Amino acid sequence: MEVYLDNAATTKPKKTVIEAVVKAMEENYGNPSSLHRKGVEVEKSIKNARKLIAKTLGCKDQEFYFTSGGTESNNIAIRGIAEANHRAGKHIVTTKIEHPSVLNTFKDLEGRGYEVTYLDIDSGGFISLEKLEASIREDTILVSIMHVNNEVGSIQPIQEIGRLIKGKNSKTLFHVDAIQSFGKIKFILSNLEVDTMAISGHKVHGPKGIGGLYVKKGIKIKPIVTGGGHEMGLRAGTENVPGILGFAEAVRIIMEEQDQQIKQMKFLKSYFIEKIQGEIKDVVIHSGTEESFAPHIINMSFMGTKSEVLLHSLEGDGIYVSSGSACSSKKKGYSHVLSAMKIKEALIDSSLRISVSDTNTKDEIDYAVTQIKKQVELLRKIMR
Ligand SMILES: Cc1ncc(COP(=O)(O)O)c(C=O)c1O
Repeated sequence: MEVYLDNAATTKPKKTVIEAVVKAMEENYGNPSSLHRKGVEVEKSIKNARKLIAKTLGCKDQEFYFTSGGTESNNIAIRGIAEANHRAGKHIVTTKIEHPSVLNTFKDLEGRGYEVTYLDIDSGGFISLEKLEASIREDTILVSIMHVNNEVGSIQPIQEIGRLIKGKNSKTLFHVDAIQSFGKIKFILSNLEVDTMAISGHKVHGPKGIGGLYVKKGIKIKPIVTGGGHEMGLRAGTENVPGILGFAEAVRIIMEEQDQQIKQMKFLKSYFIEKIQGEIKDVVIHSGTEESFAPHIINMSFMGTKSEVLLHSLEGDGIYVSSGSACSSKKKGYSHVLSAMKIKEALIDSSLRISVSDTNTKDEIDYAVTQIKKQVELLRKIMR
């Protein structure tokens, strides 16, 4: 049996997404910039894709740009805002639990003369709104806060945060990394005081190498990739047509099935937690089932085990999980997220992340729990 429980790292493309990608490669292979019919047709299909994703996000078509993925969207927003607004100030704010595509961009800007405030996190994975408010100054040009954390699933209250930022300094711009929340948490962009927002295709059963960036009308961003003026001048380069059309198909499915998808993820998460706690002793769960946690991520520690060993034992059983953030888990060292939450080293060492999708089933969870129990008990015996 193969059970894929690493959906925060990436998701399996849905069948109709694959069909849309193949169709784009076989039929819609024209260059959208070409003046002939083959190009114009593709241009039209990109326009429709943009319209559909913008509608799902709750923004205008002209406010949504295609990029190569979440990492690039975060870079365009953060670097672009910093560069376009540095005359107004050089203070920028983020949190200690951001994805490396945000954290390393801030580190780079720090090296280029920007002053950075890295906000602390509490033991549950949440920022302090009071500390955020206190951090905003006259010269703060940007605050970047992730919506859902990819390792533990904590949700930062972006509606409240947006209001708070603008209340303190109406000129401070607010960027949100919504790569783990898009599709899993319902929101309407026009109701939020957010200036830029990053999303990614492969986290929502779309293709890899495609993403998007919302930029509120009127916000100044200096492009980091220059060229032929594609994507309304923000991101040059011939469009990734198969990626865009596959992404649009993934979003179309979300639009139609989101309520059911969220319900299934919530069910699987609660069922997994209840079962794992009932079956295995000395498990510490780092992701709650409350509304302040995303429906798809469960981070937990199996005391007396080593997560990497456990991960590979489970792989042998056909179960795919993660020992932290997929993008950083190959590097040595402790998870920066769990460390920021002040979780003890022994617990970080034994922490495993499982992340579900609406395509997972109860039977898969039953199988996964049985195998996790077997492997944890074996490992505890060996390590004793
Ligand atoms: C919170 C978060 N931000 C950004 C990214 C990067 O997205 P992409 O893989 O599309 O570059 C990820 C991917 O793991 C993520 O989880």
